[in-house]
Amino acid sequence: MGFSKVTDSILYVGVNDHEIDLFEGQYIVPNGMAYNSYVILDEKTAVMDTVDIRFAQEWLGNIAAALDGKKPDYLIIQHMEPDHSSSIAEFLKVYPDAVVVGNAKTFAMMQQFFGADVAPNREVVANNGTLSLGSRTLTFVFAPMVHWPEVMVTYDAQDKVLFSADGFGKFGALDVEEDWACEARRYYIGIVGKYGGPVQALLKKAAALDIQTICPLHGPILTENLGYYINLYDIWSSYRVESEGVMIAYTSVYGNTRKAAKLLADKLTAKGCPKVVLTDLARSDMAEAVEDAFRYGKLVLASTTYNGEVFPFMRTFIEHLTERSYQNRTIGLIENGSWAPMAAKVMTGLLEKSKDITWLDTVTIKSALTAENEAQLDAMADALL
Ligand code: FEO
Repeated sequence: MGFSKVTDSILYVGVNDHEIDLFEGQYIVPNGMAYNSYVILDEKTAVMDTVDIRFAQEWLGNIAAALDGKKPDYLIIQHMEPDHSSSIAEFLKVYPDAVVVGNAKTFAMMQQFFGADVAPNREVVANNGTLSLGSRTLTFVFAPMVHWPEVMVTYDAQDKVLFSADGFGKFGALDVEEDWACEARRYYIGIVGKYGGPVQALLKKAAALDIQTICPLHGPILTENLGYYINLYDIWSSYRVESEGVMIAYTSVYGNTRKAAKLLADKLTAKGCPKVVLTDLARSDMAEAVEDAFRYGKLVLASTTYNGEVFPFMRTFIEHLTERSYQNRTIGLIENGSWAPMAAKVMTGLLEKSKDITWLDTVTIKSALTAENEAQLDAMADALL
């Protein structure tokens, strides 16, 4: 509890959540989650976003410590998803004179979530609108669909800080040390992955700004080597390949399809493939599997035929990919079927709207691998390299 300095006049007042089981109702977060919030001290003071309602009191305590007896003039809401907005009413109980700052869509959503009366003192800002706090002026840049339509980011030209809303966020609480890219990629692909175009638009706007610090709503504050993070966001949002390698995602009932997937993995490794990721979709974190499919340029899907279809975990996996605009990749299919193999046809159909896919020759197994199948897998390995 308390606050920490981002700059001399920007203070971190967010909270760590180690209680949550599934973030946004579906993502496991083994290292918890952070809901970030900031206080900007100037002639007028502003609070940037709120936190999940379960942590409202801790957050209000942090704000009080940061303000040291002052009253906040503004509460700026960049994003209305409840992990950031659900403590607005609690805040206004303590600071009823504060003006809530948002755009027209922010306030429409605020009414839907919390009723018409939640923020009687309000200032509605336009795209590129500004708010003077005294020595500094904040500029609000709309970033629709990064991750919801009302999202805006905020630029402080005095401290050269970009408050980036969900952008550049990651899973994981801030009191746990872990690699940034691993959990930022899983977060980005899972939560924002569908919206590559809007993220590209925001990156273009951000490129025109002199940014020394990025203050996201989740994950650590980024102060050094910003080009590294921006480059990864550019790759992810343009659906380009981040790392050389092959992902083999499989489902298997009695182990025969697994054997084929494993054999292909071994062949790829023996032939010098820089990275092979072998994933049993029934026993893996789905978000991690989806992340890997987007990370690497080549994907092999291996599934048994099941009820004239594909195995359920494979269908779910492919739907996760296509709803996130999966594209621009090489795909090989391995199907198994003891009397009427259908999996390849179904998988192809599920992926028919994906753009710029290079398809390899399909390998069809009837129950168990044959010598001919092994030769076909060898050819598939060569085609993947
Ligand atoms: Fe962190 Fe889209 O909410």
